[in-house]
Amino acid sequence: MGNLSPLSNPEIIPNPYPVYADLAEREPVHWCDGLNAWAVLRHEDCTGVLQDPRFKAERMEEILSGKFDGRTLPADNIYNRFTSNVMMYTDAPRHGALRKSTHGGFTRAAHEHYNEVIKRVAHDLVAGIPDDANVIDAVVELAEKLPVNAAVHAFGVPEEDLDTVIPSVDKVMTYWSGPQEQPVELDQLLEHLTDLHTYALELVQGKRGTVVEDTVIARLAAGLADQTDVTPEQTVHQLVLLLIALFAPTTPGSLGSGTLAFATNPDQIARFLENPACVDNVANEVVRYNASNQFTWRVAATDVELRGVRIKEGQRVALFLGAANRDPDVFENPDKFDLDRKNSGKNLSFGFGPHACLGRQIASLEIKWFFVSLFERFPVIRPAGEPEWNSNLEFRSLRSLPLSLG
Ligand code: HEM
Repeated sequence: MGNLSPLSNPEIIPNPYPVYADLAEREPVHWCDGLNAWAVLRHEDCTGVLQDPRFKAERMEEILSGKFDGRTLPADNIYNRFTSNVMMYTDAPRHGALRKSTHGGFTRAAHEHYNEVIKRVAHDLVAGIPDDANVIDAVVELAEKLPVNAAVHAFGVPEEDLDTVIPSVDKVMTYWSGPQEQPVELDQLLEHLTDLHTYALELVQGKRGTVVEDTVIARLAAGLADQTDVTPEQTVHQLVLLLIALFAPTTPGSLGSGTLAFATNPDQIARFLENPACVDNVANEVVRYNASNQFTWRVAATDVELRGVRIKEGQRVALFLGAANRDPDVFENPDKFDLDRKNSGKNLSFGFGPHACLGRQIASLEIKWFFVSLFERFPVIRPAGEPEWNSNLEFRSLRSLPLSLG
């Protein structure tokens, strides 16, 4: 089974799409030694696996042993308690109860309120760019800042606690990016995970900074007494998961890659400015064009055959959402960034099925209001130097994007 998969070559990160297209054609279910997993590249197969109970979302023990040389941890270790009690890594029926327990923060009325908040936060961010700034790094000045400001004003993370939370999430995220080379030591990971739990517990106990009213966290805290299907510990675990998702590189990744897509396709800025339907479609097309989470994981619960390939029980599967988003069977002319595309919403960047992203609407609001604010003030943007991509295909995002504003 050994191979040198092109998916393991870091040189593809700036533009992995030709490699995806070639593999999807020749070998749509492809063994990748570097990931120690079957890479699934077609849209139809990714959606199929993501809805198929024969593939488990519960996978973090396998990921741990893959990353740390077969290591296992006792059941009561923070790592196992966390991963077996958060929605992202559990399956039915536990998954349903855990996800439902956060519903109060994500109702329709709540999203209507977040819409207004995020619109204001995005406007203020762009308004803060100095008049004489002709060239900025759009990643550092904009894409990385908006999600942090939204985390405070729409999610309710106390501003005074950001310096505690963000460094811990950054450390945990270096681990969370799949079974690849990564610098974090297991002890450090467990320490940061413990710190985040201590923080989340103290936050719900009211011992930390001030939570802005009418935010996700304020709503979840208000509903705590009514929780009957989950334990208080599970509530803290969900909050830690939300903190990780909030400060993960996914939202900045989409804002950064979207800015690059516009800067290199000025005709699409014109479409955005002249057609409200293009504004409504911007989040869908930006995340379709570049998924900031290029692939996610499942583990086969039993032997399964997929496109003639036998996936054995216990083997990992990497679902290439970024490849599915460019599948020509679903998206016509898939390599074109096109706000007029009718089916951009079929992108898989936020996952699909029972585990579809809980933050999709909020992240989409951030993307929409960010570009509305940006183009209102700067209808002309151009690359002002070479964009620099990070070295992580799984959480693919720009490190730097020199941008001229006009
Ligand atoms: C552009 C930004 C984002 C992207 C690309 C993204 C992507 C994803 C993907 C691909 C999944 C599915 C993972 C899987 O099935 O294995 C997911 C799930 C999830 N996301 Fe996001 N996400 C984003 C922003 C957020 C934000 C801001 C939050 C904060 C609330 C969030 C919270 C979650 C949660 C809690 C889940 C797990 C849902 C479940 O398992 O039922 N995400 N996200």
